[in-house]
Amino acid sequence: SLPVPNVQEMVKNNPLEVPERYIRTTQELEKVNCLTHLSSQIPVIDFSLLSSGNSEELLNLDIACKEWGFFQLINHGIEGGVLQRMKDATAEFFKLPIEEKEKYAMPSNDIHGYGHAYVVSEDQTLDWSDALVLLQYPIHFRKLQFWPKTPQGFKETIEAYSSEVKRVGEGVLSCLSMIMGMEKHVLLEWHKELVQGLRVNYYPPCSTPERVLGLSPHSDADTITLLMQDDHVCALEIRHNGGWVPVPPLPNALLLNVGDVIEIWSNGKYKSVEHRAMTNKNKERTSFATFFFPRDDVEVEPIDHIIGDAQNSKLYKKVIYGDYLRQSLKRKLDGKAHTDVARINE
Ligand code: SIN
Ligand code: FE2
Repeated sequence: SLPVPNVQEMVKNNPLEVPERYIRTTQELEKVNCLTHLSSQIPVIDFSLLSSGNSEELLNLDIACKEWGFFQLINHGIEGGVLQRMKDATAEFFKLPIEEKEKYAMPSNDIHGYGHAYVVSEDQTLDWSDALVLLQYPIHFRKLQFWPKTPQGFKETIEAYSSEVKRVGEGVLSCLSMIMGMEKHVLLEWHKELVQGLRVNYYPPCSTPERVLGLSPHSDADTITLLMQDDHVCALEIRHNGGWVPVPPLPNALLLNVGDVIEIWSNGKYKSVEHRAMTNKNKERTSFATFFFPRDDVEVEPIDHIIGDAQNSKLYKKVIYGDYLRQSLKRKLDGKAHTDVARINE
C-alpha cells in the first residue's frame, strides 16, 4: 500500500476538514437506493441449533446464504466478557498517541500492522478509516512484532477472542459443508490449513458523512467473514435487490458473510455479497472483521456434484487461492470485481 494520512489524526487536528481525496461522487454514494425497510429482514441464525444438527436451522442457513449472503449469528457461545474485553482493549489502543501506534505501522509490502491496505494509486479516492490487521492462525503465521504491547494484556485478549471466533468459524464451516452435500469435515479439510486473520477498522467521525465512505464497496476474498460491530452505530450496508440495506448491529450477535471462495465452490449458489461502511457525523465506530481462508496452494473451483451433469453451467474457472488473494489485494477495493477474475463467459 502507498502511504496515506492517518484519518484519526487528521480529524483530531481539524475536525471540520475533509480533503478532496476523500470526497465521493453522488453516483458512488447512491443515496436513492437505500432500502432501510429491508433491514429487519436480514436473517438470524442460531449457532447452538446448527451445532446440534437441527435440520430446520440448516435449511435456514441455506436460504440465508442463497438470498442474502449475510446473516446475524446468535447463541454462538462466546462469553460476553471475551467480546467486551476485545472492544475495551482496542478502544484503548486507538486512543494512544500516533507515535505509539506507529510502532506497529504496516510496511508498504505487507498486510500486517496498523495503517491502510488497498491503496494502490495516488489519485484513488480514500476511505475514512484506519485499520489494524493481524494474522492469527495457523500460529506460525503470526508476526508478533505487529501485535500491540499496549494496552497491557492486549495480546492475550486478542488470543482469547480469536480462539473463540475460530471455534465458531469452524462450526459454521462444518454446517456449510453439510448444506453443500458433503460430510461435515470436508470443507475444512479443503483449506489444507485454515488461515484466520483479523482486521480492526476504526472510523473516526466525519463532519460531512454524506460525502465520504468509511470503507469502499467490496466483496470479501475469503471463505467466510465473522464481524463484530459496535452496538451503538449503524454504518454497514449490504447489497440486496439492487440497493443498499443498512445492517443495524444486533447486541451480542456476530454478523457472518459468505466470501468469494464459497461463491466459487458453490458455483454461485451462495453469494459473496458486496458491502460498504458509512461514517457518522458525531460518533466514532470500530468493527472487528475475522477472515477465514484456505492455504495459498489450494485450488478453488466449483464442486463437481453441485454442477452435476451440465458441465457447461460451470460459472467459474479454477483459481489457485494464493494468486486469487494477491490479485484482490493488489487492486483497490472497488465493488464486487474479484470473482470476475474467476468467472467464465464475461
Ligand atoms: C468489512 O467489510 O470488513 C467491515 C465493514 C464494517 O466496518 O462493518
Ligand atoms: Fe468486508
